[in-house]
Order: sequence, then structure tokens, then C-alpha cells
Amino acid sequence: MENVYGLLGFPVEHSLSPLMHNDAFAYFGISARYHLFSVKPEQVGEAIAGVRALGIAGVNVTIPHKMAVIPFLDEVDEHARRIGAVNTIVNDNGRLVGYNTDGPGYVKALEEEMDVHLDGKRILLIGAGGGARGIYFSLLSTAAARIDITNRTTEKAARLVREGEDGRSAFFPLAEAEKRLAEYDIIINTTSAGMHPRVNEQPLSLERLRPGTVVSDIIYNPFETKWLKEAKARGARGQNGVGMLVYQGALAFEKWTGQWPDVNRMKQLVIDQLR
Ligand code: ATR
Repeated sequence: MENVYGLLGFPVEHSLSPLMHNDAFAYFGISARYHLFSVKPEQVGEAIAGVRALGIAGVNVTIPHKMAVIPFLDEVDEHARRIGAVNTIVNDNGRLVGYNTDGPGYVKALEEEMDVHLDGKRILLIGAGGGARGIYFSLLSTAAARIDITNRTTEKAARLVREGEDGRSAFFPLAEAEKRLAEYDIIINTTSAGMHPRVNEQPLSLERLRPGTVVSDIIYNPFETKWLKEAKARGARGQNGVGMLVYQGALAFEKWTGQWPDVNRMKQLVIDQLR
């Protein structure tokens, strides 16, 4: 029998996940299909009950349900519990187990796509919302030397640093981070500034950027934000959000099937669709 997988979100229509997963299932000759499920916020509990009742083998969870699904699961792994969000559910013979592959996917994309070794690196994270949380806690589990946070609303950065309880982190107002920019080896934008349709917004000034710095933006629509283009023009090594999208999917696929997919193939499919 064909296994069913899918994405629970609202809206879900524009997701690139079916493309990646269905191609990977075909590639491995796995009899399975990945579908989009548009789930209204007030029906999250029923949707999870549906996953159980129908024996759906696994699902991804996206905006706005990543926190809301947690009470309906049988088990939530430690990382997902710490960040308070689940993006991948595995149906293990009726036991629904929640994981979060966003942060780990981001870190793997950074290491593999940019050939970066995080040991001893000084990292600046811009943003303190949902996107930042997973990445921040994943970075804390690496051997990076510093993982500082800056955010438009400084108090939110302060809160995240307090939660991290890690001596390697400090928080700064945006203006202060802009002044200190040359201290960092890696600068990561997790904010929505520059994302379609707000393409003219920039998360922080790059005036003091040191050439050779890795500048990474989790946005992939537009394919390259104005900010990322400017960083590259100033001599940075730039990364867009496609890597994180693909690697979070690859890690979910591995949890469901035990197979590590061909990430370059997945990436090419996504790029062809976006460009
Ligand atoms: P997500 O879950 O996608 O991270 P979010 O929780 O709404 O979304 O967080 C959006 C992030 O983008 C926040 O860090 C936000 O800063 P505030 O906490 O001050 O709101 C940041 N952000 C959005 N627009 C921005 C802009 N124009 N300049 C700088 N930061 C911006």
C-alpha cells in the first residue's frame, strides 16, 4: 500500500515540499506520496486525529501550526520542545513523535553549502522571532565561539539570550550591532525584512561589513534579497534561504524513510521552480 505523507499549514498552496519529497520517493523507489493539507487554525487537533485515524505515515507542519500541534502528539523530542515548535511528525506505529528540523537543517546547509566549520566562529543572528529560535538553539549546540543576537525590538533579543543560558551569547540593539559588524565571521538574517512583497526593507546596515564574511539570509523569495546582493557586492560570501528549505526537508525525509536524499537534486528542483 502507498504510504501517505503531507504538509499541514494554512495557507499551503505555494509550498515546494511536494516537489522535493515526491521526487525523492520516486528516486528511491519508495511507494509513497506527499500531499498538501490546508488546515484551519481551529481544526489542528482534528487534523492530528486524522493523521492517527488514517495512518498517515508522516507530516510536516508549517505556519501557523508549529506550536499548536504539540499538545496533540505522543512525544516531542528535546530540541523541538526547547524551541517550542514542531515542523516534522513521524507516525511510529500509531505513536506520533514531533521533531523540528528547521534549525538543524539551517546549520547543515551552512556547513555543507558554504563549506563553513563553525568551531570557534563568531556569529551574529539578526531577528528574534520564530525563525531565529530554531536556528539559535541549533547554533548553541555547535562549537561556535560567539552567537550574539540583535533585533529591532531589543527586548526580544534579550529574552532569547536569557533563555539560551549560554555564556557565549550577548544581545545588542541594531545600531550597536551595525557598529560591531566587522567582529563577526558569519552574519545571519532571520527577519522578514526584504521578503516578498517588502523587498526594499533591509534588516541592518552593511556599511562596516568585512570582506570575506559569510552573510546568510533565510529568505528565498526573492531568490536573493537586496540586502544579500549588497553583502556580496561588499565582498561577502553569500547564501540565500534555499539551503535551509532543502535541508529541513532532507532531514524530515530521513526521519520518515531512513534514507538521506540527494540534496543537490532537491535543490535544483527548487531553484528551477523559483527562478
Ligand atoms: P518569524 O516567525 O518568521 O521569525 P516573526 O516572529 O514575526 O516571524 O519575526 C519576524 C522578525 O523579523 C522579528 O525579529 C522582527 O523584529 P521585531 O521583533 O522587532 O518585530 C523582524 N523584522 C521584521 N521586519 C523588520 C524590519 N523591517 N527591520 C528589522 N527587523 C524586522
